[in-house]
Amino acid sequence: MLVFRKKEALRQHLQEHRLQNTTIGFVPTMGALHQGHLSLIRKSLELTGYTVCSIFVNPAQFNNPEDLKKYPRMPEQDIALLEAAGCHAVFLPEADEIYPTPPLVQFSFGPLEKVMEGYYRPGHFSGVALIVSKLLHIVQPHMAFFGQKDLQQCRILEQLVKDLGFNTEIQIEPTVREADGLALSSRNLRLSREGRQTALHLYVALQQAAEAVQAGIVPDVAQKNALAYLQNIPNLEPEYFYITEGGTLQELRNVQKGDQIAICTAAYVEGVRLIDNLLISYQGN
Ligand code: PAJ
Repeated sequence: MLVFRKKEALRQHLQEHRLQNTTIGFVPTMGALHQGHLSLIRKSLELTGYTVCSIFVNPAQFNNPEDLKKYPRMPEQDIALLEAAGCHAVFLPEADEIYPTPPLVQFSFGPLEKVMEGYYRPGHFSGVALIVSKLLHIVQPHMAFFGQKDLQQCRILEQLVKDLGFNTEIQIEPTVREADGLALSSRNLRLSREGRQTALHLYVALQQAAEAVQAGIVPDVAQKNALAYLQNIPNLEPEYFYITEGGTLQELRNVQKGDQIAICTAAYVEGVRLIDNLLISYQGN
């Protein structure tokens, strides 16, 4: 596996592959890689001819400086995992390679960023859109792979690619979970054993809400019940619990059989902010 730290060197290398008509797959990450990230690498290896992963803890998307400081960093271990997975190249830039001057451009996504993560983390999606735009310009992949774990990020990036006309197909892959259901996350590394058990209730609440909606409970009521359930768990502080339209992530109206519904939640456990979601196809009516 080749390791690139400079964008120009990566660009030139990828150009050679492009000239040979090799399709390029791209998996952007912030490192501390786990099986969730590796599932994206494997999908890219399956669907494209040359897979590039990037590892960059992007300061522009952290609205909380403490969260940025505490974000786990383990580049050697990440490189070993990528190598073992068969990834072809990794891009590991320093911050000034990506941001030679402080960026001024800002993105806004209208209603899509006024809810959930966008509401509770102001500026977060502008930072995500900025880094993903910069990386797509450098890598120019045929396909880019993202996890449903960050569902709102997926919807934001689909919009970004559509609005700016990037020649990249966005592929969304299912959330990889532990055997007991906890969604894999780099942030889980900051949880104690007890904290991890507490975090599991996020998945329990999501599943209960999904079952309630499918059983005909009004989504608004199911949403309130789920939030109340989480509020009663010791050492867990839910931030939100929403049942929304799957595509727009807006309030559910006139839901029909077969419609996609997103059930999304965020909560703090031991000071660590965790998110999770389920996408379901509505079977009621
Ligand atoms: P990061 O949190 O490192 O995640 C990188 C990719 O892995 C994202 O597409 C994320 O949705 C996916 N992922 C994380 N946990 C997953 C899981 N349990 N199952 C499946 N996929 C999972 O998301 C980011 O980085 C950044 O915002 C980034 C897009 C790289 C821009 O900086």
